[in-house]
Amino acid sequence: MARTLGILTAGGDSPGLNAAIRAVGKAAQRRYDMHVIGFRDGFSGLMQDRHVRMDSDTLSGILTKGGTVLGTSRIKVNKVDLGDGRMVDMRPMIRQVVERHDLAALVCLGGGGTMKNALKLHQAGIPVVCLPKTIDNDVAATDTTFGFDTALSIATEAIDRLHSTAHSHHRIMVVETMGHNTGWLTLGAGLAGGADIILIPEIPFEVPRLADAILTRKAGGSSFSIVAVSEGAMSTANRQRHSELLAAVEAIEDDRDDRVERKALSDFHAAQSRSTEDLALQLQEATGLEARVTILGHVQRGGTPSTMDRILATQLGTAAADLVAAGTTGVMVAMRDGRSVTVPLEEVAGKRKTVPLDHPWIESARRLGVCLGD
Ligand code: F6P
Repeated sequence: MARTLGILTAGGDSPGLNAAIRAVGKAAQRRYDMHVIGFRDGFSGLMQDRHVRMDSDTLSGILTKGGTVLGTSRIKVNKVDLGDGRMVDMRPMIRQVVERHDLAALVCLGGGGTMKNALKLHQAGIPVVCLPKTIDNDVAATDTTFGFDTALSIATEAIDRLHSTAHSHHRIMVVETMGHNTGWLTLGAGLAGGADIILIPEIPFEVPRLADAILTRKAGGSSFSIVAVSEGAMSTANRQRHSELLAAVEAIEDDRDDRVERKALSDFHAAQSRSTEDLALQLQEATGLEARVTILGHVQRGGTPSTMDRILATQLGTAAADLVAAGTTGVMVAMRDGRSVTVPLEEVAGKRKTVPLDHPWIESARRLGVCLGD
Protein backbone atom coordinates (compact mmCIF):
# COMPACT_ATOMS: atom_id res chain seq x y z
CA MET A 1 0.00 0.00 0.00
CA ALA A 2 1.23 3.53 -0.80
CA ARG A 3 2.53 5.39 2.24
CA THR A 4 1.44 8.87 3.24
CA LEU A 5 3.64 11.92 3.67
CA GLY A 6 2.44 14.74 5.94
CA ILE A 7 3.54 18.32 5.52
CA LEU A 8 3.14 21.51 7.56
CA THR A 9 4.47 25.07 7.67
CA ALA A 10 5.24 26.72 11.02
CA GLY A 11 6.59 29.98 12.46
CA GLY A 12 6.55 33.30 10.57
CA ASP A 13 5.62 32.84 6.92
CA SER A 14 8.14 33.58 4.19
CA PRO A 15 8.25 33.66 0.40
CA GLY A 16 9.04 30.24 -1.07
CA LEU A 17 6.93 28.15 1.34
CA ASN A 18 4.43 27.24 -1.36
CA ALA A 19 7.20 26.45 -3.82
CA ALA A 20 8.61 24.04 -1.22
CA ILE A 21 5.20 22.47 -0.46
CA ARG A 22 4.73 21.91 -4.19
CA ALA A 23 8.20 20.39 -4.60
CA VAL A 24 7.84 17.98 -1.66
CA GLY A 25 4.32 16.98 -2.71
CA LYS A 26 4.89 16.54 -6.42
CA ALA A 27 8.14 14.61 -5.97
CA ALA A 28 6.52 12.32 -3.36
CA GLN A 29 3.57 11.63 -5.63
CA ARG A 30 5.30 11.33 -8.98
CA ARG A 31 8.50 9.65 -8.01
CA TYR A 32 7.39 7.55 -5.05
CA ASP A 33 3.64 7.19 -5.58
CA MET A 34 2.94 8.47 -2.06
CA HIS A 35 -0.24 10.13 -0.79
CA VAL A 36 0.32 13.63 0.56
CA ILE A 37 -1.68 15.41 3.24
CA GLY A 38 -1.10 18.93 4.54
CA PHE A 39 -1.83 19.99 8.13
CA ARG A 40 -3.37 23.42 8.57
CA ASP A 41 -1.77 26.17 10.66
CA GLY A 42 1.43 24.41 11.63
CA PHE A 43 1.75 22.27 14.74
CA SER A 44 -1.58 23.49 16.16
CA GLY A 45 -3.45 22.00 13.17
CA LEU A 46 -1.35 18.86 13.47
CA MET A 47 -2.35 18.17 17.07
CA GLN A 48 -6.01 18.75 16.17
CA ASP A 49 -5.67 16.67 12.99
CA ARG A 50 -6.93 19.49 10.80
CA HIS A 51 -5.70 18.32 7.45
CA VAL A 52 -6.30 18.60 3.75
CA ARG A 53 -5.48 16.14 0.98
CA MET A 54 -2.78 17.54 -1.30
CA ASP A 55 -3.52 16.07 -4.72
CA SER A 56 -2.03 17.29 -7.97
CA ASP A 57 -4.74 19.95 -8.32
CA THR A 58 -3.99 21.40 -4.86
CA LEU A 59 -0.27 21.39 -5.61
CA SER A 60 -0.63 23.12 -8.98
CA GLY A 61 -0.47 26.87 -9.48
CA ILE A 62 1.12 27.65 -6.09
CA LEU A 63 4.78 27.94 -7.12
CA THR A 64 4.70 31.73 -7.39
CA LYS A 65 2.32 32.46 -4.52
CA GLY A 66 3.48 34.26 -1.38
CA GLY A 67 2.63 33.10 2.15
CA THR A 68 1.64 29.50 2.77
CA VAL A 69 -1.51 27.84 1.44
CA LEU A 70 -1.50 25.66 4.57
CA GLY A 71 -1.45 28.53 7.09
CA THR A 72 0.97 28.76 10.00
CA SER A 73 1.19 29.35 13.75
CA ARG A 74 3.75 29.59 16.54
CA ILE A 75 3.41 27.08 19.39
CA LYS A 76 5.73 24.83 21.40
CA VAL A 77 4.59 21.21 21.00
CA ASN A 78 5.61 20.26 24.53
CA LYS A 79 4.05 23.33 26.18
CA VAL A 80 0.65 24.25 24.76
CA ASP A 81 -1.33 26.81 26.76
CA LEU A 82 -4.83 25.48 27.41
CA GLY A 83 -6.02 29.02 28.14
CA ASP A 84 -6.48 28.42 31.88
CA GLY A 85 -2.82 28.70 32.80
CA ARG A 86 -2.16 24.97 32.31
CA MET A 87 0.60 23.92 29.92
CA VAL A 88 0.23 20.56 28.21
CA ASP A 89 2.65 18.36 26.29
CA MET A 90 0.82 17.62 23.02
CA ARG A 91 3.24 15.01 21.72
CA PRO A 92 1.10 12.00 22.69
CA MET A 93 -1.80 13.53 20.74
CA ILE A 94 0.48 14.25 17.78
CA ARG A 95 1.73 10.67 17.84
CA GLN A 96 -1.87 9.44 17.56
CA VAL A 97 -2.43 11.66 14.51
CA VAL A 98 0.76 10.38 12.89
CA GLU A 99 -0.28 6.77 13.54
CA ARG A 100 -3.85 7.35 12.37
CA HIS A 101 -2.57 8.48 8.97
CA ASP A 102 0.27 5.94 8.97
CA LEU A 103 2.66 8.76 8.05
CA ALA A 104 6.01 7.73 6.60
CA ALA A 105 7.19 11.10 7.89
CA LEU A 106 6.09 14.60 8.67
CA VAL A 107 7.90 17.27 6.65
CA CYS A 108 8.12 20.49 8.69
CA LEU A 109 8.95 23.75 6.92
CA GLY A 110 10.15 26.41 9.33
CA GLY A 111 12.83 28.36 11.13
CA GLY A 112 14.50 28.11 14.54
CA GLY A 113 11.31 27.46 16.56
CA THR A 114 10.19 24.78 14.11
CA MET A 115 13.54 22.99 14.37
CA LYS A 116 13.16 22.87 18.17
CA ASN A 117 9.62 21.46 17.86
CA ALA A 118 10.75 18.94 15.25
CA LEU A 119 13.60 17.74 17.47
CA LYS A 120 11.14 17.24 20.34
CA LEU A 121 8.91 15.15 18.06
CA HIS A 122 11.91 13.18 16.81
CA GLN A 123 12.99 12.48 20.40
CA ALA A 124 9.47 11.20 21.05
CA GLY A 125 9.85 8.72 18.19
CA ILE A 126 7.83 10.67 15.59
CA PRO A 127 9.47 10.65 12.12
CA VAL A 128 10.26 14.18 10.90
CA VAL A 129 12.23 15.83 8.11
CA CYS A 130 12.72 19.63 8.15
CA LEU A 131 13.35 22.32 5.56
CA PRO A 132 14.90 25.69 6.55
CA LYS A 133 12.83 28.79 5.81
CA THR A 134 13.05 32.32 7.19
CA ILE A 135 13.69 35.76 5.81
CA ASP A 136 16.22 36.16 8.64
CA ASN A 137 18.62 33.54 7.17
CA ASP A 138 19.57 32.54 10.71
CA VAL A 139 18.97 28.77 10.70
CA ALA A 140 22.15 26.95 11.72
CA ALA A 141 24.00 24.46 9.50
CA THR A 142 22.68 25.72 6.15
CA ASP A 143 24.25 28.31 3.84
CA THR A 144 20.88 29.90 3.25
CA THR A 145 17.14 29.64 3.90
CA PHE A 146 14.30 30.24 1.49
CA GLY A 147 12.59 33.60 1.91
CA PHE A 148 15.86 35.42 2.55
CA ASP A 149 16.65 36.28 -1.07
CA THR A 150 13.17 37.72 -1.68
CA ALA A 151 13.23 39.78 1.51
CA LEU A 152 16.71 41.03 0.64
CA SER A 153 15.41 42.39 -2.67
CA ILE A 154 12.41 44.04 -1.02
CA ALA A 155 14.57 45.74 1.61
CA THR A 156 17.15 46.79 -0.97
CA GLU A 157 14.49 48.34 -3.18
CA ALA A 158 13.14 50.26 -0.18
CA ILE A 159 16.62 51.67 0.57
CA ASP A 160 17.04 52.60 -3.11
CA ARG A 161 13.79 54.53 -2.98
CA LEU A 162 14.69 56.29 0.26
CA HIS A 163 17.90 57.62 -1.29
CA SER A 164 16.26 60.16 -3.57
CA THR A 165 13.95 61.59 -0.95
CA ALA A 166 16.77 61.69 1.64
CA HIS A 167 18.84 63.63 -0.88
CA SER A 168 16.05 66.07 -1.78
CA HIS A 169 15.34 66.98 1.85
CA HIS A 170 18.88 66.71 3.27
CA ARG A 171 17.58 64.24 5.83
CA ILE A 172 18.72 61.25 7.79
CA MET A 173 16.57 58.31 6.73
CA VAL A 174 16.51 55.53 9.29
CA VAL A 175 15.14 52.32 7.80
CA GLU A 176 14.36 49.36 10.06
CA THR A 177 14.46 45.85 8.65
CA MET A 178 13.43 42.60 10.34
CA GLY A 179 15.94 40.48 12.23
CA HIS A 180 15.53 40.20 15.99
CA ASN A 181 18.73 38.32 16.62
CA THR A 182 20.75 38.39 13.42
CA GLY A 183 21.68 41.04 10.89
CA TRP A 184 21.88 39.15 7.58
CA LEU A 185 18.98 41.01 6.03
CA THR A 186 20.05 44.47 7.17
CA LEU A 187 23.69 43.94 6.27
CA GLY A 188 22.88 42.52 2.83
CA ALA A 189 20.27 45.13 1.96
CA GLY A 190 22.38 47.91 3.48
CA LEU A 191 25.35 46.93 1.35
CA ALA A 192 23.30 46.45 -1.81
CA GLY A 193 21.39 49.69 -1.24
CA GLY A 194 24.46 51.77 -0.37
CA ALA A 195 23.48 52.61 3.22
CA ASP A 196 25.94 54.91 5.01
CA ILE A 197 25.40 53.33 8.42
CA ILE A 198 24.44 49.68 9.01
CA LEU A 199 23.46 48.52 12.49
CA ILE A 200 23.03 44.82 13.25
CA PRO A 201 22.45 42.86 16.47
CA GLU A 202 25.91 41.29 16.28
CA ILE A 203 27.68 44.69 16.60
CA PRO A 204 26.53 46.95 19.48
CA PHE A 205 26.66 50.61 18.50
CA GLU A 206 27.51 53.95 20.10
CA VAL A 207 25.22 56.83 19.12
CA PRO A 208 28.04 59.47 19.15
CA ARG A 209 29.90 57.36 16.54
CA LEU A 210 26.85 57.41 14.29
CA ALA A 211 26.45 61.16 14.72
CA ASP A 212 30.14 61.63 13.86
CA ALA A 213 29.76 59.56 10.71
CA ILE A 214 26.77 61.64 9.61
CA LEU A 215 28.50 64.96 10.38
CA THR A 216 31.65 63.82 8.56
CA ARG A 217 29.52 63.08 5.51
CA LYS A 218 27.93 66.49 5.81
CA ALA A 219 31.32 68.18 6.04
CA GLY A 220 32.28 66.31 2.87
CA GLY A 221 29.23 67.73 1.03
CA SER A 222 26.69 64.92 1.54
CA SER A 223 23.92 66.44 3.57
CA PHE A 224 21.85 63.27 3.80
CA SER A 225 22.50 59.83 5.26
CA ILE A 226 20.83 56.45 5.09
CA VAL A 227 20.88 54.36 8.26
CA ALA A 228 19.85 50.69 7.88
CA VAL A 229 19.05 49.18 11.27
CA SER A 230 17.96 45.67 12.29
CA GLU A 231 15.01 45.56 14.67
CA GLY A 232 17.29 43.76 17.14
CA ALA A 233 20.30 46.12 16.93
CA MET A 234 21.23 47.66 20.28
CA SER A 235 23.55 50.25 21.74
CA THR A 236 26.43 48.91 23.83
CA ALA A 237 24.66 49.89 27.06
CA ASN A 238 21.38 48.25 26.02
CA ARG A 239 23.15 45.09 24.87
CA GLN A 240 24.75 44.82 28.30
CA ARG A 241 21.42 45.41 30.06
CA HIS A 242 19.72 42.85 27.79
CA SER A 243 22.33 40.19 28.58
CA GLU A 244 21.86 40.80 32.30
CA LEU A 245 18.06 40.57 32.08
CA LEU A 246 18.28 37.39 30.00
CA ALA A 247 20.69 35.79 32.46
CA ALA A 248 18.33 36.66 35.33
CA VAL A 249 15.37 35.03 33.54
CA GLU A 250 17.39 31.95 32.62
CA ALA A 251 18.30 31.49 36.28
CA ILE A 252 14.61 31.20 37.28
CA GLU A 253 13.58 27.64 37.89
CA ASP A 254 9.79 27.95 37.89
CA ASP A 255 7.26 28.78 35.13
CA ARG A 256 5.48 31.61 36.97
CA ASP A 257 4.63 34.58 34.75
CA ASP A 258 4.52 37.06 37.65
CA ARG A 259 8.28 36.95 38.33
CA VAL A 260 9.85 40.43 38.37
CA GLU A 261 12.72 39.19 36.20
CA ARG A 262 10.28 38.16 33.42
CA LYS A 263 8.42 41.46 33.69
CA ALA A 264 11.71 43.42 33.44
CA LEU A 265 12.73 41.49 30.31
CA SER A 266 9.34 41.96 28.68
CA ASP A 267 9.43 45.72 29.46
CA PHE A 268 12.86 45.85 27.86
CA HIS A 269 11.54 44.13 24.72
CA ALA A 270 8.60 46.54 24.57
CA ALA A 271 11.01 49.48 24.71
CA GLN A 272 13.22 47.81 22.10
CA SER A 273 10.27 47.67 19.70
CA ARG A 274 10.30 51.50 19.72
CA SER A 275 14.08 51.78 19.58
CA THR A 276 14.33 52.87 15.95
CA GLU A 277 12.14 55.92 16.64
CA ASP A 278 14.33 56.72 19.65
CA LEU A 279 17.48 56.34 17.59
CA ALA A 280 16.19 58.73 14.92
CA LEU A 281 15.42 61.35 17.58
CA GLN A 282 18.85 60.95 19.11
CA LEU A 283 20.52 61.37 15.71
CA GLN A 284 18.39 64.40 14.93
CA GLU A 285 19.44 66.06 18.17
CA ALA A 286 23.09 65.14 17.80
CA THR A 287 23.44 66.32 14.18
CA GLY A 288 20.89 69.07 13.74
CA LEU A 289 19.62 67.28 10.63
CA GLU A 290 16.01 66.19 10.30
CA ALA A 291 15.49 62.45 10.65
CA ARG A 292 12.64 60.25 9.40
CA VAL A 293 11.88 56.60 10.12
CA THR A 294 10.67 53.86 7.77
CA ILE A 295 9.80 50.50 9.31
CA LEU A 296 9.62 47.87 6.60
CA GLY A 297 8.01 45.25 8.85
CA HIS A 298 5.97 42.44 7.34
CA VAL A 299 6.17 43.87 3.82
CA GLN A 300 9.50 42.00 3.73
CA ARG A 301 7.72 38.67 4.21
CA GLY A 302 5.01 39.16 1.62
CA GLY A 303 4.51 38.53 -2.08
CA THR A 304 5.96 36.42 -4.83
CA PRO A 305 9.19 34.54 -4.10
CA SER A 306 12.29 35.52 -6.07
CA THR A 307 13.76 33.22 -8.71
CA MET A 308 16.51 32.09 -6.33
CA ASP A 309 14.04 31.31 -3.53
CA ARG A 310 11.91 29.24 -5.91
CA ILE A 311 14.94 27.27 -7.03
CA LEU A 312 16.17 26.78 -3.46
CA ALA A 313 12.74 25.70 -2.18
CA THR A 314 12.34 23.31 -5.11
CA GLN A 315 15.78 21.77 -4.65
CA LEU A 316 15.34 21.30 -0.88
CA GLY A 317 11.73 20.14 -1.25
CA THR A 318 12.51 17.38 -3.77
CA ALA A 319 15.44 16.25 -1.60
CA ALA A 320 13.05 15.98 1.38
CA ALA A 321 10.77 13.65 -0.61
CA ASP A 322 13.80 11.43 -1.41
CA LEU A 323 14.67 11.22 2.29
CA VAL A 324 11.16 10.32 3.37
CA ALA A 325 11.01 7.60 0.70
CA ALA A 326 14.37 6.25 1.89
CA GLY A 327 13.19 6.25 5.52
CA THR A 328 15.73 8.85 6.66
CA THR A 329 14.23 11.04 9.39
CA GLY A 330 15.34 13.23 12.30
CA VAL A 331 17.18 15.52 9.89
CA MET A 332 17.02 18.92 8.23
CA VAL A 333 17.82 19.26 4.54
CA ALA A 334 20.45 22.01 4.33
CA MET A 335 22.07 23.82 1.43
CA ARG A 336 25.88 23.69 1.33
CA ASP A 337 27.86 24.99 -1.65
CA GLY A 338 24.88 24.59 -3.94
CA ARG A 339 24.13 20.99 -2.92
CA SER A 340 21.48 19.67 -0.57
CA VAL A 341 22.87 17.76 2.41
CA THR A 342 21.25 16.24 5.49
CA VAL A 343 22.05 17.49 8.98
CA PRO A 344 20.86 15.78 12.21
CA LEU A 345 18.28 17.94 13.99
CA GLU A 346 20.44 17.89 17.12
CA GLU A 347 22.98 20.02 15.21
CA VAL A 348 20.37 22.61 14.23
CA ALA A 349 17.78 22.99 17.00
CA GLY A 350 18.54 25.66 19.58
CA LYS A 351 21.42 27.04 17.50
CA ARG A 352 21.47 30.23 15.50
CA LYS A 353 23.57 31.34 12.54
CA THR A 354 24.67 34.87 13.37
CA VAL A 355 26.77 37.07 11.11
CA PRO A 356 30.46 36.29 11.83
CA LEU A 357 32.34 39.49 12.62
CA ASP A 358 34.90 38.66 9.93
CA HIS A 359 32.27 37.87 7.31
CA PRO A 360 33.22 39.19 3.84
CA TRP A 361 30.11 41.42 3.77
CA ILE A 362 31.31 43.11 6.97
CA GLU A 363 34.82 43.47 5.61
CA SER A 364 33.53 45.00 2.37
CA ALA A 365 31.35 47.43 4.30
CA ARG A 366 34.32 48.54 6.40
CA ARG A 367 36.52 48.96 3.31
CA LEU A 368 33.86 51.20 1.81
CA GLY A 369 33.84 53.38 4.92
CA VAL A 370 30.33 52.30 5.96
CA CYS A 371 29.84 52.99 9.67
CA LEU A 372 28.84 49.81 11.54
CA GLY A 373 28.33 51.68 14.79
CA ASP A 374 31.38 50.34 16.66
O1 F6P B 1 11.50 35.06 12.28
C1 F6P B 1 11.13 35.79 11.18
C2 F6P B 1 10.60 37.13 11.56
O2 F6P B 1 10.20 37.66 10.36
C3 F6P B 1 11.56 38.05 12.31
O3 F6P B 1 12.45 38.73 11.50
C4 F6P B 1 10.60 38.98 13.00
O4 F6P B 1 11.18 39.54 14.13
C5 F6P B 1 9.48 38.08 13.35
O5 F6P B 1 9.47 37.05 12.39
C6 F6P B 1 8.14 38.77 13.41
O6 F6P B 1 7.16 37.81 13.58
P1 F6P B 1 5.59 38.02 13.73
O7 F6P B 1 4.99 37.40 12.52
O8 F6P B 1 5.24 37.26 14.94
O9 F6P B 1 5.31 39.48 13.80
